[in-house]
Amino acid sequence: MIPQSFIHDLLARVDIVDVIEGHVPLKRAGSNLTARCPFHSEKTPSFTVSATKQFYHCFGCGAHGTAISFLMEFHGLGFVDAVKDLAARVGMTIPDTATKRDRGQEADAEELTGVLHRAAQYYRAQLKEAGRAIDYLKGRGLTGEIAARFGLGYAPDGWQGLEAVFPDYRESRALSAAGLVIDAAEGRRYDRFRDRIMFPIHNQRGVIVGFGGRVIDSGEPKYLNSPETPLFEKGRELYGLHQGRQAIRSAGLVVVVEGYMDVVALAQSEIGYAVATLGTATTPWQVQKLLRQTDRVVYCFDGDAAGRRAAWRALENSLGQLVDGKQISFLFLPELEDPDSFVRVHGRVAFEDLLSRAQPLSEFLLEYLSSRTDLSTAEGRAKFLQDAKPHVKQIAAPMLSLLLRKRIAELAGVSQPELDSRYEIKTLVRSRVAERRAAPKPSILRQLAEMVVFRPGLASLVDSSRLMEFGDLAGNEVPAGEFRLFCDLLELARARPGMQGAMEAFRGSDLAGLAEQIEAGSLRWEERRLDDAALEDDFLGAWRQLLDRFRNARISALLEKSKRIGWTEEDKALYLRLQRPSQTDAVGAD
Ligand code: UTP
Ligand code: MN
Repeated sequence: MIPQSFIHDLLARVDIVDVIEGHVPLKRAGSNLTARCPFHSEKTPSFTVSATKQFYHCFGCGAHGTAISFLMEFHGLGFVDAVKDLAARVGMTIPDTATKRDRGQEADAEELTGVLHRAAQYYRAQLKEAGRAIDYLKGRGLTGEIAARFGLGYAPDGWQGLEAVFPDYRESRALSAAGLVIDAAEGRRYDRFRDRIMFPIHNQRGVIVGFGGRVIDSGEPKYLNSPETPLFEKGRELYGLHQGRQAIRSAGLVVVVEGYMDVVALAQSEIGYAVATLGTATTPWQVQKLLRQTDRVVYCFDGDAAGRRAAWRALENSLGQLVDGKQISFLFLPELEDPDSFVRVHGRVAFEDLLSRAQPLSEFLLEYLSSRTDLSTAEGRAKFLQDAKPHVKQIAAPMLSLLLRKRIAELAGVSQPELDSRYEIKTLVRSRVAERRAAPKPSILRQLAEMVVFRPGLASLVDSSRLMEFGDLAGNEVPAGEFRLFCDLLELARARPGMQGAMEAFRGSDLAGLAEQIEAGSLRWEERRLDDAALEDDFLGAWRQLLDRFRNARISALLEKSKRIGWTEEDKALYLRLQRPSQTDAVGAD
């Protein structure tokens, strides 16, 4: 594991502008640099690089990160390789420190990935010894090379197999937090995965975040998956995306299938651009992730009724993510076939032929809706219009929406202006535009956090212990994640006044997404060009407003309590203290 301090030193040495400029021509725009985004296709530049804060952000597709993230995204590198690459540029070497094994401490993200990685190594090694498992995989047409590419392994048929590689098996918190063991009564602990073929699930950055385990031959459940952990959220990961990045880029296409085995079998047939959802319906989040990688997404489902239902759910979750210029389509396999069986019998060319004839999303939408009503009657056409409305209104891509509305109007025998007025389309479009112009005002906590990222010196103006006092109210009064992030940022700003690349501290944590949004939001403060005094005023004003909100909540709770059961001496003292004016919350005003 690479120590956080090394990452920090490294990011202080490299300049993100040099790193990105080597791949993307940057133009100066005010204090920042811009370019056409390398991660999605666009005509006008919305990709911004902040030289002062050392991060990039695309206002179009949301790509965001440090110099490390850029190398990972651009070259499809894993975290460690990206760090190595960067370190080599500036002549630094990664220190060779073993992770300190913390006795019984809270398992953090770094520890979890370490544990999952070691377990995967163990399962891989076990596969070499397991004739039955090898025969099974061979029987399904897989070569050793493909098994190695996907890191397939075998969990042996014992209760505590992992004890062989985890000397602290019995007490390690990380093992249970990672979902590798199950804690039963009386402190008994045993392996979750036993006698199963193991499919490690990597996140986009190539870090193992969980496993799927398949029984050999038959048994229930067929697949056992890791439970969700801070590192592993099923709706946010896609199996095979890490291995498939290169192939997806060169094919200009990604195929979404349902099973792990489908992904692996397609790769065996030289179709490397397939990914699978993790046993759940495709989420909007996954669709967005895929549309960032490529312009064409094809969902591949079984040809039966269940397959069509799954396809419809995928469609519903895709509508809000559609972008003009990108294409989502649907491929239905012949009944009783899945991608694995199809490609093994018919081969790559036949599969690619099906792909090229996949049904565009708009066609599937119209076909599905019109099949559920009788378009030859007025009543049927009215129902059709009614059914289509919520779907059309979800589509954010203006061109596609227009074309679809024209088709719907035609099928229903009304004019497009008539349809638009029924669907209240005009107002929708206008309000969307207005919304984008006046982006919704971020919460006070977000504003505070953005300001600290923008000008870390602000952190020294306030006494954060005043805020921490209200930590117990966080989940109720303000979102708990925003509260934690802001507290962490105050600390970071004091520890590292430059804050450059500071967001690396959140990589892999549950706050990572929020941290990215905050960093992107900090660009707005730059645009505002407030002088230092005005910025300080804004900051302290927001700080007081926040504390007042907490204080008022505390006071109401106390008053409530006094009515119900009366006060203790402590309550009384607290009440008096809470009544003091809020100016005292700023440092130096006491
Ligand atoms: P399938 O049963 O279609 O998987 O389930 P598959 O990949 O075709 O399986 P085999 O090996 O060829 O028989 C599709 C996906 O649903 C989830 C898994 O993610 C699987 O890949 N699933 C399925 C489970 O999580 N648990 C189960 O018991 C079954
Ligand atoms: Mn299958």
